[in-house]
Amino acid sequence: MRDQMRAKLVAGNWKMHGSRAANQRLLEAVKSAAAEFGGAQCAVCVPFPYLEQAQNALAGSAVALGAQNVSEHDSGAYTGEVSGPMLRDFGCRYAIVGHSERRTLFGERDGQVAAKFQAAQRAGLIPILCVGETLAERDKAETEAVVGRQLRAILDTAGVRALADAVVAYEPVWAIGTGRTATPAQAQSVHEFLRRTVAERDTEIAARVTMLYGGSVKPANAGELFGMADIDGGLIGGASLVAEDFIAICKAAAARR
Ligand code: PGA
Repeated sequence: MRDQMRAKLVAGNWKMHGSRAANQRLLEAVKSAAAEFGGAQCAVCVPFPYLEQAQNALAGSAVALGAQNVSEHDSGAYTGEVSGPMLRDFGCRYAIVGHSERRTLFGERDGQVAAKFQAAQRAGLIPILCVGETLAERDKAETEAVVGRQLRAILDTAGVRALADAVVAYEPVWAIGTGRTATPAQAQSVHEFLRRTVAERDTEIAARVTMLYGGSVKPANAGELFGMADIDGGLIGGASLVAEDFIAICKAAAARR
């Protein structure tokens, strides 16, 4: 479903990487290249302690800031958690929810991911909802059942209208950090399925919702992936830590607008 209304988005997911010195170099490089990203939106999702550094380093640029997680609670006795209003306080626009590492390593289930999605929106953040199947699930031809269930968990609790101000990122678990990228056709087929799943409830929102692909996106494969009809950009892990690679990926998105 190609829709000229959908702008491209490239979001870097730094995961648990970084140091003040390394961040500064990376942020400055991205900021100074941002004028060449055309109409493509670029964002960096940094670890919590570096939000203020990133907010300051990116001030005055079009590069947006995001977090990699958010509490489902707005405030209270939740030791170690970080809330949506706190992320807004540091200028965040986006919050990743339901990344596969959160789901598999930290036991986040669909219900909790849906609560985080809603908490992000309550705080005025745009959630980037991650969905994706494992290799075993793909081999058993369960990809659509798995990503469909993960997406419906949001549709059933937040309602389809909530997707008008959200981003969905399809990240096959077998492609994350493995160097093994989904082929553009494989990714497109899942994106098309996800958009159809939204369209069952609202065709206009389905046509509008931004859908990213994530999993070993590199400068060499970004252009082809972003050229697919239902792929509106990428969620970038490893390559977002290398300034020249991340910048090249943002430029690839700009070229595919
Ligand atoms: P990767 O990570 O680009 O390193 O595969 C993507 C992600 O986990 O968001």
